[in-house]
Amino acid sequence: MYFQQDLLRGKSALVTGGGTGICRGIALALAGVGCDVAITSRKREHLEPTVDELRRTGVRAIGATSDVRDPAAVEAVIADTVGAIGGIDILVNGAAGNFVCLAESLSANGFGTVVDIDLKGTFNVSKAALPELKKRRGVVLNISATLQLLGTVGQSHASAAKAGVDALTRALAAEWGPYGIRVNGLAPGPVGDTEGVRRLTTPASRLKIEEQCPLGRLATIDEVASAALFLCSDAASFVHGVVLVIDGGLWLRSARAIATD
Ligand code: COA
Repeated sequence: MYFQQDLLRGKSALVTGGGTGICRGIALALAGVGCDVAITSRKREHLEPTVDELRRTGVRAIGATSDVRDPAAVEAVIADTVGAIGGIDILVNGAAGNFVCLAESLSANGFGTVVDIDLKGTFNVSKAALPELKKRRGVVLNISATLQLLGTVGQSHASAAKAGVDALTRALAAEWGPYGIRVNGLAPGPVGDTEGVRRLTTPASRLKIEEQCPLGRLATIDEVASAALFLCSDAASFVHGVVLVIDGGLWLRSARAIATD
């Protein structure tokens, strides 16, 4: 543990996509420092085990099935969250969907589906949470990625969506800062033991990533969660409108054109 155990005691967080992967890690890290947590997923089976784990840390926790693409369902989640854990101090927008597909083979609906989940979903939940965030001078953390920083093959849809998420982070920071709401982004590169890495890489490409990464490995979920805790806590009280890349420096090397050996 790098953080005081009661760092966020008395606070309440809503983490979309919090049942699995990186956002499950963030939800558990928030609970580990005393924060009550609500998580959402489209699938109930993704929620129940994580809610049990959250409750075992001693905090209040609920899970709500919801699709971030559906504004009415999102409004219901906000109401359920406020009813169960009292409000929203911290919103983590992590719900996302992805698959590998070349642009020339991708349907308009395939492109739009990923943009709808990642980008419009982030907007829908942020907007619906705004009244609660205003009351508590809250924090928003938008999870994006690093694929959009370069030209990532087979990821036109996700890159467009995540670039949009980063742009939304900056726009909302400018608009909502005057309400006392901080808005930041977190852009993880490949993170070990996640569905994203299972879907987007092969064993051979993972080895290549490790070779190229200046720090020589993939991130762990705990490392991403630690960065999230920092951005969600008062330790980052003047950090606003940034997108923090957490990838061991991988993206700096990914397009290396000059051989060094
Ligand atoms: N390659 C190409 N197109 C694909 C695809 C793939 N692997 N998977 C889905 N699509 C297309 C579908 O063909 C459809 O387009 P169409 O109507 O023109 O045929 C469109 O995307 C919507 O697919 P659908 O399955 O109806 O959407 P959904 O809302 O049920 O699923 C996804 C959302 C597509 C993101 C799906 O991959 C998913 O549910 N993923 C959940 C897990 C996940 O992505 N986690 C993140 C890992 S990084």
